[in-house]
Amino acid sequence: MFLGPPGSGKGTQAKVISSKIGAKHYSTGDMLRDAVKNNTDLGKKAKEFMSKGELVPDSLILSLINEVFLRDNPNRFILDGFPRTVNQALELDKLLQKIGRPLTTVLYFDIPDEEVVRRITGRRTCTKCGSNFHIEFNKSKNDGICDKCNVKLILRDDDKEATIRNRLKVYKDSTSPLINLYKEKGILRKIDASASIDLISESIIKFIS
Ligand code: AP5
Repeated sequence: MFLGPPGSGKGTQAKVISSKIGAKHYSTGDMLRDAVKNNTDLGKKAKEFMSKGELVPDSLILSLINEVFLRDNPNRFILDGFPRTVNQALELDKLLQKIGRPLTTVLYFDIPDEEVVRRITGRRTCTKCGSNFHIEFNKSKNDGICDKCNVKLILRDDDKEATIRNRLKVYKDSTSPLINLYKEKGILRKIDASASIDLISESIIKFIS
C-alpha cells in the first residue's frame, strides 16, 4: 500500500512499479475520476466531495473496493490512495482476510507541504489514461500532450491551490493516523518522497526484491 499526502508521487510510482513487478494497481482516485467522467451513480455522488478536496464517504469507497477485489481476487496488488481513514483500514483488513491476501508492506511517502503544492500545481493529467506529468519535473515529450494517448493534458479540477490546502488538511486529520496504525503493525516503511522519480523507483524495487 502506498500512503502519503496528495502529490507525494504515489500514483507516479504505482504505475511504474506495478508494471515492473506484475502487480495490479488500484487507485481509488482514478476509479472515482472515471466514475465522474462516465456520470455513473457513484460519480454523481462523489463529484461534489472531490471538487472541494473532501473525502468521499467511506460507505461508497468500501463498496467500490469490495466489488473490484472480489471480482479480481488479485494475487499481487498495489493500493494507491486507499485506505484513507482508520475505518477504511479496518474494513480492508477484513476484506483481505476473506480473500487470504494479507497486506505485506505500507510505503509511507514522506514530503514537506510546500513541495506538495509545487508538484500539484504543476501536474498535468491525461483525461484518457490518467497518466501524470509535471510541467517542470516530469515533462511530456510534446508540450501539453499525453505521451501514450496523444490527447491533451489538463489541470485536474481539485489541483487548484485553495483546494490543495484543504486536501492537505483532510490528509492530516483523517489519513495521517494510519502512519502510526501501520507502524504498530510493523509493516510501515518510510521513503524520502522528495528524491527524484527514478531514485524512488529504484529504492522501492530494491526493497521489494
Ligand atoms: P487521489 O487521486 O487519490 O489524490 P491524492 O491522494 O490527493 O493524490 P494525488 O493523485 O494528488 O497525488 P499522488 O501522490 O498520486 O502524486 P502524483 O504521482 O500524481 O484522490 C482524489 C480525490 O478522490 C480525493 O481528494 C478524494 O476526494 C477522493 N478519494 C480518493 N480515494 C479516496 C478514499 N480512499 N476515500 C475517500 N475519498 C477518496 O505526483 C504529483 C505530481 O508530481 C505529478 O505532476 C508528478 O509528475 C510529479 N512527481 C511525482 N513524483 C515526483 C518526484 N519524485 N519528483 C518530482 N516530481 C514528481
